[in-house]
Amino acid sequence: MAEAQNDREAREAKEDEMRLSEAEIAVHWKEEEYFHPTPKFIGQANLTDPAVLERFSEKNFPECYREYADLLTWDKYWTTTLDSSNAPFWKWFVGGKLNVSYNCIDRHLDKHANKAAILWVSEAEDDPVVALTFQELYVQVNEMAALLRDFCGLKTGDRVTIHMPMVPELPVTMLACARLGIIHSVVFGGFSGEACGARIVDSGSRVLITMDGYYRSGKVIDHKASADIAVKKAAEEGQKVDKVLIWRRFRDRAASSTPMVEGRDYVVNEELKRYAGHRIAPVSMPAEAPFFLMYTSGSTGKPKGVQHSTGGYLAYVTGASKFIQDIHTTDVYWCMADIGWITGHSFIVYGPLALAATTVMYEGVPTFPDAGRPWRIAQRLGVNIFHTSPTAIRMLRKLGPDEPKKYDLHFKCMTTVGEPIEPEAWLWYYHTVGRGKAAITDTWWLTETGGFLCSTKPAIDPMKPGSTGPPMPGIYPVIYDEHGKEIPPGSNRAGNICIRNPWPGLMQTIWGDNERFVRQYYGKYNKNKNSTDWHDWPWLAGDGALWAKDGYVRILGRIDDVINVAGHRLGTKELESACLTVPEIAEAAVVPIVDAERGRVPEVYVSLKPGVKADPEIMARVTRAIETNIGKIARPRMVRIVPDMPKTRSGKIMRRVLASISNSMDYGDITTLSNPEVVEQIRVQVQGAGPVRKKEGPEDIKRFGETT
Ligand code: WTA
Repeated sequence: MAEAQNDREAREAKEDEMRLSEAEIAVHWKEEEYFHPTPKFIGQANLTDPAVLERFSEKNFPECYREYADLLTWDKYWTTTLDSSNAPFWKWFVGGKLNVSYNCIDRHLDKHANKAAILWVSEAEDDPVVALTFQELYVQVNEMAALLRDFCGLKTGDRVTIHMPMVPELPVTMLACARLGIIHSVVFGGFSGEACGARIVDSGSRVLITMDGYYRSGKVIDHKASADIAVKKAAEEGQKVDKVLIWRRFRDRAASSTPMVEGRDYVVNEELKRYAGHRIAPVSMPAEAPFFLMYTSGSTGKPKGVQHSTGGYLAYVTGASKFIQDIHTTDVYWCMADIGWITGHSFIVYGPLALAATTVMYEGVPTFPDAGRPWRIAQRLGVNIFHTSPTAIRMLRKLGPDEPKKYDLHFKCMTTVGEPIEPEAWLWYYHTVGRGKAAITDTWWLTETGGFLCSTKPAIDPMKPGSTGPPMPGIYPVIYDEHGKEIPPGSNRAGNICIRNPWPGLMQTIWGDNERFVRQYYGKYNKNKNSTDWHDWPWLAGDGALWAKDGYVRILGRIDDVINVAGHRLGTKELESACLTVPEIAEAAVVPIVDAERGRVPEVYVSLKPGVKADPEIMARVTRAIETNIGKIARPRMVRIVPDMPKTRSGKIMRRVLASISNSMDYGDITTLSNPEVVEQIRVQVQGAGPVRKKEGPEDIKRFGETT
């Protein structure tokens, strides 16, 4: 017995070792040439002093971050910039007090009351643009805050779930929460009612705020129906929602025919009438009070509520918006992301509004009714800063490569975020959209980080297509191999990127799960778990990366079980749990496949319970299960029914092997599997009986699912 045990351990150690060496494969690619910002851009930029690096160097840490916090208006100035005494639960600007809605609205009223804070564009192209001035935003936020406080009985520290489309009522609602110190949890509008319900439960919200409908590709979606599902799901799991507040998409009619539930559902537009003219004093919040939750996917089934702080988060996004996005009060800034993701929180709502910029919101699909739509919007509104994802760039390029040339575009700077961008797509963005005049920033960061971690400083650093850029001022990365050994810049080897230091935008914890927070982000490389010295706590980002000699970082993609679909993080475990709700399914494995537009899309492998016959109906039900449990964004490219899953001797499904088969890549050594013969069966099923295909493929697929 003991011998068999030893044997197994030795074998498993060998398997581990094999995986490790694969993780460190050298990565070779062509270095791209540099592109330089124009003198005109530099002449007006917010950040032109190269001494910024010295100011934010390690010897000036953490005090360097005063520079960001000083962009805000504090009710009470802080006493300690960084408190590490309860590492890794860092506290920033301790002793300081402020209010986010005051910083985003009230403080601008003196100078900018009549300037547009939000310009909103309906998906229906004939609808007029809606402009909310700072004064109007102030009025609406105050009235909504009155409703939340006096009608819903909400108070500081309560959580509220918001499941809304891209309409101005969404930032109004968020800022109303911020005014009272209510913790908002905005769920992406495209998520299903079930997904929303699970987030209501985890956050313990007793109020859900939604909208009856919205336009999507020319159709009105019944969104109220999702609220009913969400509330039901929450109730089943023990979280009662007392009130559902429903904004009306159309002034004169309901967008949904789903009935209202007496005593639970209320039309916000009606209820607000009672609060006309009400003003609510902004609640002065401690800098380290939780500000909002944003659920994201990780390597376990349950989405985690990333908790951001009030002062640190706002300081960080304001600094990043000013210095990297180069936002001035006179700019018209358009970020095409959805507010239901972190990019929208940080770079549609909070950063731009804290700087009194005009922020543009668009309701619909970028390519509706055609691929010229974004350029018509930009031309009409005079947008001069543009921000979008590589997926949107790839789609717009594919559907309308010459469209941007038809319009009068004047972007001074443009951002991409969410996925690696291929040099080809970058060059189109630069030449055709930016006319070779806009400085491009490729910003790498995560939901957890609040704001950017790597990016070029647009007036200081040259751009290099395909690389995100050097670390942000005050961010000190390190790339480790699997054994915790540092891989220095210029060594041409990939590894796991970590940030050595804390920074103000870093999440505070996972809502309700401190232990998971520590394990997930610090478990791998922490040097001493009792240490209160930040040097012992490198923060694991979860991406593979390569650091070039010139200091530019190239991000290779997730190293955990996360698939980045069109810039949206989907946890394979969540998708797999959805598959398992179909009773015939015994096991499910979800893997990414490379997609020319969306970056990666999920492909599903399932095996059936004994006695169940393979049937296309089962495949269709698996797809439906994913759409209902998560949302249409997670729809798989293909569902494949296989006889068995390739497994290690310890029973772990080798997703890496399936991912390689799906992507026609070399699946490497499979001799350590308990059922190697099934791999060939699956390969023939997927690729046909021809010879084994051995394409070279991207790093995230080669390593898929290895770390979990
Ligand atoms: C990926 C989005 C390459 C990365 C802000 C990260 C990127 C995940 C880039 C986080 C970029 C984000 N280049 N990859 N510029 N930006 N990513 O939490 O894999 O939705 O871990 O935050 O997106 O996705 P999240």
